[in-house]
Amino acid sequence: MRILIGCDHAGFRLKEDIKAYLISLGYEVEDYGVYGEAPFDYPDIAFRVAEDIAQGKGDRGILICGTGVGMSIAANKVQGIRAALCHDVFSARASREHNDANILTMGERVIGVGLAREIVRVWLESEFQGDRHARRVAKICAYEERKNPTRVG
Ligand code: RB5
Repeated sequence: MRILIGCDHAGFRLKEDIKAYLISLGYEVEDYGVYGEAPFDYPDIAFRVAEDIAQGKGDRGILICGTGVGMSIAANKVQGIRAALCHDVFSARASREHNDANILTMGERVIGVGLAREIVRVWLESEFQGDRHARRVAKICAYEERKNPTRVG
């Protein structure tokens, strides 16, 4: 599974830790930056990762900022993206099983490394359950399609 990961300055340290953790688990990881703690606007990274997930250049995305909120708001503007802000394992699992989330966002200023790793592991290992959940996700996709009829990818 190919993971696209990105962050802003406030998520840099956690991004570095999660990247190393993913590699240790055997995942293929593409790092979209940033690569240091100089101030950087989170939407610029969120849009790059989200566009590439929407276009199938990666299987899942992980975006980290100070709170995870800005990354989730920005990523969810991209058609086809279901970005879930999760700071607990239960929500992380449910975001995959019920919502088919394709991007996980977290905040470095909110949670510690141990919990973040566990959230990431569970999120990546959980599968969409389909069935009634597929009907609900399809309604979101249909809404997006109606609002952006000319968009592709
Ligand atoms: C940066 O100060 C901070 O606003 C950003 O990382 C993020 O938390 C925004 O949602």
